[in-house]
Amino acid sequence: MSKTTISVIKADVGSFPGHSRIHPRLLEKAQKLLKEENGKLLIDSFVTHCGDDLELIMTHTHGVDNEKVHRLAWDVFSECTKIAKSLKLYGAGQDLLADAFSGNVRGMGPGVAEMEFEERGSDPVLIFMADKTEPGAWNFFLYKIFADPFNTSGLVIDPSMHKGFIFEVHDLIGKRKIRLSCPEELYSLLVYIGAPSRYVIKHVFGRDGSIAASTSTQHLNLVAGRYVGKDDPVMIVRAQSGFPSVGEVIEPFCTPVLVAGWMRGSHHGPFLPVGLCESSCTRFDGPPRCICMGFQVSDGRLIGPADMFDDPAFDRVRSRCNELADIIRAQGPFEPHRRSLGEMEYTTLPGVETELADRWESLSLK
Ligand code: F6R
Ligand code: MG
Ligand code: MG
Repeated sequence: MSKTTISVIKADVGSFPGHSRIHPRLLEKAQKLLKEENGKLLIDSFVTHCGDDLELIMTHTHGVDNEKVHRLAWDVFSECTKIAKSLKLYGAGQDLLADAFSGNVRGMGPGVAEMEFEERGSDPVLIFMADKTEPGAWNFFLYKIFADPFNTSGLVIDPSMHKGFIFEVHDLIGKRKIRLSCPEELYSLLVYIGAPSRYVIKHVFGRDGSIAASTSTQHLNLVAGRYVGKDDPVMIVRAQSGFPSVGEVIEPFCTPVLVAGWMRGSHHGPFLPVGLCESSCTRFDGPPRCICMGFQVSDGRLIGPADMFDDPAFDRVRSRCNELADIIRAQGPFEPHRRSLGEMEYTTLPGVETELADRWESLSLK
């Protein structure tokens, strides 16, 4: 039986006004270009957006890192960039870091999460897409979903999940990776993933090796060696029958969590789970937020989507996040609202240092 691949590839190629939302003409163009490939390179596709990010969800049989699929995504982003430029949208083409495609969009700006699996009798898949935050934002939620029995009761009472899961962690700065098994290595896992700007969970696997979750881990400033574009990650999670249930997968989003990103990628703020209609960023260019689209994958076809956070069950976390936003915004340019000096994506410090260099006096005793 052939395997199904899901590729979620996203980029910010221009928005309006400022960095807040996608223009409908970009969505239409992307939808049209992907639909032309349905039944050819692709089995199925779905185009959506979160804030200023254009999200391409594609299914096919060509495996992860497939050059043709990546080229298609690159071409879609390039065509949408042309429209964005013609409308003078803000940041037109901002996430396309290269002039021409060279084999794989990883390392070229767009964010990528992919997984390949043999479909079960029925395969529910949840696709999360975020704006105004960084890839490590998923760490907390993946930990809760796949390792915390207070979130996921199946870890305790479902024999098919009782052995736990394996987490693949990437060190974005050290450029290395490791697999840690939970529950045995839970404390070692936490020591890393509690530092989400550097250590990110890339994949989660079942004990039999089956893929359970996959995230995008591109850090554009690390790719380009300077601050450019935005990371705004995506994540694919499989649910039910040996994996956490759909309800267990979305349950951790009921906790208000502070993530890095927001204004100028240089602040911490609450992570709002929202329905698609509420996915555009406003207050202080945010707050950081995410949507979740649920599908049944059926011989590669995407049956859905269901807009999972479009539900009053998430009203309370949204209101608690808004309260947190008020509290942390009141700190203005002070840490921990503002990120630490080394982590800020914008800084005036070198310029200020040069200007004041002669006025600083040594504290050392003569
Ligand atoms: C954050 C984001 C925005 C911009 C901000 C300044 O991810 O996209 O908060 O950083 O609006 O944008 P520029 O520097 O383009 O004026
Ligand atoms: Mg933008
Ligand atoms: Mg964005």
